[in-house]
Amino acid sequence: MLKANLLNFTTLYRFGTPFETDAVTLDKKSLNFTETEQLPFFSFEKNDTIFTLKFQLNEEDRIYGLGQTLGGLNKRGKRYKLYATDDPLHTPEKESLYGSHPFLIVNNKFGLFIDYPSEIIFDIGFTKHDIMEITIPSNNFDLYIFNSQNNIEIIKEYLKLTGTPYIPPKWAFGYQQCRWSYPDAKTIKEVAENFRKKEIPCDAIYMDIDYMKDFKVFTIDENKFPDFDKFVKEMKEKGFKLVPIVDPGVKIEKGYDVYEEGKEKGYFCKDKDGKDFVATVWPGFTHFPDFLNPEVRKWWGRKYKLFTDLGIYSFWNDMNEPSIFFVPDALKKYLKEINEMLNKEIGLEFFGIKDGINALSNKREYYSEFYHNTPYGKFSNEELHNLYGYYMAKATVEGFNELIPDKRYLLLSRSSYAGHHRIATIWMGDNMSWWEHMLVNIRMLLSLNMAGFFYTGADIGGFGSNASPELVIRWMQLGVFSPLYRNHSALGTRHQEPWAFDENIENIMKKIIEFRYALIPYLYSEFFNSIEELTPFISPLFLHYNDDETSFEIEDQFMVGKSLMAAPIIQPNAKGRFVYLPENKWLYWKLSDFKERNVEVLTPGTHYIKAGLNEIPVFIKENSLIVLNEEKLNYVDEKATEEIIVIGFVTDKAEFVYFEDDGESFAFKEGKYAKIKITVIKNKNGYDFEVEKDESEKFETSLKRIKFEIYNENNEKVVFTLSL
Ligand code: GLC
Repeated sequence: MLKANLLNFTTLYRFGTPFETDAVTLDKKSLNFTETEQLPFFSFEKNDTIFTLKFQLNEEDRIYGLGQTLGGLNKRGKRYKLYATDDPLHTPEKESLYGSHPFLIVNNKFGLFIDYPSEIIFDIGFTKHDIMEITIPSNNFDLYIFNSQNNIEIIKEYLKLTGTPYIPPKWAFGYQQCRWSYPDAKTIKEVAENFRKKEIPCDAIYMDIDYMKDFKVFTIDENKFPDFDKFVKEMKEKGFKLVPIVDPGVKIEKGYDVYEEGKEKGYFCKDKDGKDFVATVWPGFTHFPDFLNPEVRKWWGRKYKLFTDLGIYSFWNDMNEPSIFFVPDALKKYLKEINEMLNKEIGLEFFGIKDGINALSNKREYYSEFYHNTPYGKFSNEELHNLYGYYMAKATVEGFNELIPDKRYLLLSRSSYAGHHRIATIWMGDNMSWWEHMLVNIRMLLSLNMAGFFYTGADIGGFGSNASPELVIRWMQLGVFSPLYRNHSALGTRHQEPWAFDENIENIMKKIIEFRYALIPYLYSEFFNSIEELTPFISPLFLHYNDDETSFEIEDQFMVGKSLMAAPIIQPNAKGRFVYLPENKWLYWKLSDFKERNVEVLTPGTHYIKAGLNEIPVFIKENSLIVLNEEKLNYVDEKATEEIIVIGFVTDKAEFVYFEDDGESFAFKEGKYAKIKITVIKNKNGYDFEVEKDESEKFETSLKRIKFEIYNENNEKVVFTLSL
């Protein structure tokens, strides 16, 4: 194997000739490779087809990372198979989800990233309690070892390697409403009108598969959406963004332009005989565009013009593992087998039939049956399987670079690979309206943030199965602290819009969403601050309190930016919860209406705090500040922010950097932004307030006033207003 040092403390170990995945943005050509036989931390074994790495786990070792996976925040005790799979039932024993992010941290020891585009199995103390065994079914891959004992430094180094996280437009921090499906323009308009009539803030409404004509990608069903242009315009005037879904499967239908063009130009994935591979998804029989081919990406990316011409810059790319309901031959074979049983008396065989139909979906063998024509040669999908979602997103973004080069876009994808976080993001896929999935949501949010997906989120309220009003409220409260704040539910399930239950529930939901909007100046500023520092925006406590053993065990509380800690209620019928407060004192805000400051100073340690259904526990760290916008908003860009309220808990000194830009372009990269550094220093008699504006580079802040509400350790408040 070869070895090369890069960045501050990273070593790349190269095995064989790895496929160039695109995960790493650093130029690897200029690296100085030397031969080596040794790997630090690991022992390894290999034969012609399999490579196995082994790490001896001490009782104290904790493993964090792996992005979108199930299991605890500490990944020990489970087996993970990183192989992109459309599995809509995220039960605890499942080993695969939609993406692959093979980056992990062995706490206080080192970090690791394996750049390999197909299945990798991480058995982290599952088969053997004290062994982490990593199996790669290949001898061609890059292994990066981050030799540092500092978790944050490891994450930074990983992000230097794979790229700075993607930045969505500002409106994407607003509330977003989704449903499979709001089937036509009329329904979407009604939903939109409801939000405005009821004065519940909302920024986006999603368009699920029913907007398409027969589920044909890049078409619009004119019966359901007559005069689509006008409809988009009307929605825009009301301050709503539309977010259409885009699926990769192209329906096989004569005369359908996307199909005809793709077929003629040879843009679809081929089977072993060189024919276009046929898979069944929503529209029936389809072909898959070969996104690994740059020419195909160019073609596909331009197709988004249908929407970008109308001012739609927000999309969700779905089904891109790619999901396959079945391939026609497999179904035929199965139906034949069943048919043969028609006149037989069957008993036990029934279970085979029963499971057989489900087993037709996403069968592993399908992925060996189609091929990609890449710049590096022909590969089966199986060999590059985990790249399909990323390359679909790359096609989309390459299209945007041509079509809307100055616009920041919202792009969610279901499947992803390492590095995806720098061009787009993901949502967490088809969860359920289960209390258990709120904890899954938090764990995944933290693990994904560590893997560079700073802006992400789960389907709030749960996608599958029916939700109770209590669950939706508690999840909406958790969602306040989730960068992507999207409520989504599946076909046939109970509705989850804020008004879907009764008036009391609706009022509570409204207050929750209002709090989210009030918090946007804080979220947006801290998001940019996190990007600048390359440290997770949403983070587990242990990243902040490395010397506090207990903080390593906490997976249902998390930091949002640097000043705020969330401790959501995720247990049914709970009227409160235990909260662990590390190190310093905290200002506990019992929040039911963000305009009321129901606050109290709490000391470090464990506390039971009460939280009725309408109450959100919020914690502000000692010597830190948060900022709120108290003005009523229907949507994020409705009004410029002229006044912010700085709420702080200051016993010594606190600082906050408020960030503002146009929220929709990349002009901030050219210095068009304002940064306002707010400092509060405790003195003998009260506080000193300092505000330092950095708008030197052609961007003027809209802020006119800053109001301070600062609390000391005795819960006494000092109020001060400063005009800018
Ligand atoms: C998939 C997606 C889900 C979407 C549905 C219909 O299950 O994950 O979000 O609503 O397809 O398009």
